[in-house]
Amino acid sequence: MKMIKQKIGVLMVLGLLLLGSFSSLIDLQPTQAASTDPTLTAIKKRGYMVLGVSADYPPYEFHKTINGEDKIVGFDIALARQIAKDIGVELHIKEMGFDSLLGSLKTGKADMIVSAMTPTPERKKEVAFSDSYLTVGQSVIVRKDDVDKYQSVMDFKGDKVGVQKQTTQETVAKDEMAGAQIVSLEKVTDLILNLQQKKFAGVVVEEPVAAAYVQSNSALALSKVKFTNSDYDCAVAVSKDAPAYLAAVNKTIRRVKKNGQFAEWRKEANAQMLTKQNFFQGYGSYFLKGTGITIILTIIGVFFGSLLGTLLALMKRAKNKIAKAIAIVYIQYFRGTPLLVQVFMIYFGTQILHLNVSAFASAAIALSLNSGAYVSEVIRSGIESVAQGQSEAARSLGLSQKQTMRLVVLPQAIKTILPALGNEFISLLKESAIVSVIGVGELMFQTSVVQGSSFKPFLPLVITSLIYFVLTLLLSLLLKYFEKKLHAKDSLNKANG
Ligand code: ARG
Repeated sequence: MKMIKQKIGVLMVLGLLLLGSFSSLIDLQPTQAASTDPTLTAIKKRGYMVLGVSADYPPYEFHKTINGEDKIVGFDIALARQIAKDIGVELHIKEMGFDSLLGSLKTGKADMIVSAMTPTPERKKEVAFSDSYLTVGQSVIVRKDDVDKYQSVMDFKGDKVGVQKQTTQETVAKDEMAGAQIVSLEKVTDLILNLQQKKFAGVVVEEPVAAAYVQSNSALALSKVKFTNSDYDCAVAVSKDAPAYLAAVNKTIRRVKKNGQFAEWRKEANAQMLTKQNFFQGYGSYFLKGTGITIILTIIGVFFGSLLGTLLALMKRAKNKIAKAIAIVYIQYFRGTPLLVQVFMIYFGTQILHLNVSAFASAAIALSLNSGAYVSEVIRSGIESVAQGQSEAARSLGLSQKQTMRLVVLPQAIKTILPALGNEFISLLKESAIVSVIGVGELMFQTSVVQGSSFKPFLPLVITSLIYFVLTLLLSLLLKYFEKKLHAKDSLNKANG
């Protein structure tokens, strides 16, 4: 009897458990789709979402000065704003090269990409895509005089055709323009520049973009060339495994397509793109801002690079084997790898370590670390140039090793290495242009912004080269002045002594 009771009890408990889990399954179903996932929760908790964008693609996304302020506009941006609004957070825009977008989404630097991106099978392996919000064909832009020359894809045989790096245009051009030499560049603005300068015979971009450039540039025209396989969707990319987040994005897209809002944004973007403005009034502020940031980056790089360089030089001369080894490996690494790679490593690497380092800070760190390696070699050669007798004399006068270094060797070393050090600082200033790839708003970055939004690819480059020239000239004059001063002091000392 007792046994049976026990068995019934066990059965009842099991039954209840089963029922419980079943019912929780039932009510889980509807809430799962409607409520949230960790990605969406994190975004909501943060209060803002980061949009990754390559703003060289009018009318999808491009720069425009509005009331004297630089803004990224376009119908992709309008869509992104609406998505953020519907989720209930602010939108922060982060600009970068098209080929860096997927990486930034995967490493968490961006929460979504709206950049006319086509959901290709390869990309779908990496990230998730929303429903398509637009489907368009591809066009080839040529110079106006060449319209008759290029009638079909085959006419480009033996010529150079420009495409944006890692885009679907790259694929279609390679697949269908047999015999043409396909050249991939990072920015659409650079493609247009090459076309104007007769370096390329044609440039492949999405139809609306081609129309934009042709409308605002009388020297260019649309070719009659047609591709067979070229209707591409554009969709919003978000990270994988975030079903609720993706559902929220899709909900917005479906609504704005249905109620005509999206069509409205397209019209607005077209209008914005075509309003003309005086070049210097419209873009002067970009150059000013860029120059300011370039100068700040250089000052930071020179300061920390010199500190680090001195330290490394001393370490390399130290008796301690470990210190010496660290210095040798460090210097070898930072001089032996491209600055471009170092910038990317720091920018994306810190993200993988879950440190949210801004693009500016990453750039400042990369420039300082890099310049430290070069400065250290300059300083070391300076130290070695100071005659051995000097330190021996100082030591015999009772100065400690540290004092000898600080009071006797280093001051003399600095004088001999000043020209070499000056070269190093000048190249640091010029090299800082590289950090534009991660979206730091320095001079080079602003230049490409102006190229894009003014539809003038060459003039901004001329202005920028003049600015760099003046900056490096000023820097060399400053260094000359210091050199003179040091020598004057020196001869005074000698005269007195
Ligand atoms: N639709 C093409 C692709 O996905 C090109 C997109 C380029 N977008 C841009 N903002 N530059 O590859």
